[in-house]
Amino acid sequence: GGGGHVTDYSFSFEGPFGTFDQNQLQRGLQVYTEVCAACHGMTLVPIRSLTDEDGPGLTDDEVRAYIEMNYIEVYDEDLQDWRPATPNDHFPEGSYEGAPDLSVMAKARAGFHGPYGLGLNQLFNGIGGPEYMASYLVNYTGEEQELYGTYLYGNTTFEGGWTQMAPPLWDGMVEYADGAPNDMESLAVDVSAFLMWAAEPHMMDRKQMGFTAVLLLGLLSVLLYLTNKRLWAPVK
Ligand code: HEM
Repeated sequence: GGGGHVTDYSFSFEGPFGTFDQNQLQRGLQVYTEVCAACHGMTLVPIRSLTDEDGPGLTDDEVRAYIEMNYIEVYDEDLQDWRPATPNDHFPEGSYEGAPDLSVMAKARAGFHGPYGLGLNQLFNGIGGPEYMASYLVNYTGEEQELYGTYLYGNTTFEGGWTQMAPPLWDGMVEYADGAPNDMESLAVDVSAFLMWAAEPHMMDRKQMGFTAVLLLGLLSVLLYLTNKRLWAPVK
């Protein structure tokens, strides 16, 4: 519903046993860093979490190199100035007026698979945030208008059809070291996967725990059923 158009991209982390694709997360980090971070912040995410094994899985050295090569700086309240980030810092805040923080955006924009029914659709197809995001990044119509000094760009993902974010991606914009496709849609899907990880880094743990819980509760039900039968057998 909602009137907008969202494409149902499939992601490796969908389904009860889905996991993040580490190479894809690394590519998405690159897109985020080279493109999105020019405007957006990600202040809830610690830079050190890039070493998560279920996540991008960088080594400590790679994280330090990442900070250095991309000149990542954070604003230090004590110094009252910007300084180079350390792995203990969080990602910096955005610098562009009106560009929302992307830390939990993949969850904030969930709901494409509905918050209706039993939640089975979300379990098997994911929560929909990354599909929305990838669609938003590619669904530009090419139309532009100026409204009271603000530029608006036609985008069919929204009900209203207009957004203040200029089209941020184009084919071949980011060069991947692993030679993966870098057409606009691939860049959009990769960065959306990365932002899903950023918003929900413990998704795999959560799924595993849920699965174990369902198994144990199932076992308990069987035992209770059999016990119950046994207990009442003499009465019948
Ligand atoms: C909004 C993602 C690049 C400026 C947004 C939203 C998302 C997003 C998910 C929220 C849309 C919503 O409210 O549902 C991204 C990603 C980028 C990127 C993944 C990189 C691939 C940029 C860049 C700029 C920018 C480079 C600045 C030149 C904005 C602004 C908004 C916005 C101003 C607010 C739009 C509105 O409320 O109409 N972006 N963005 N973004 N972004 Fe980006």
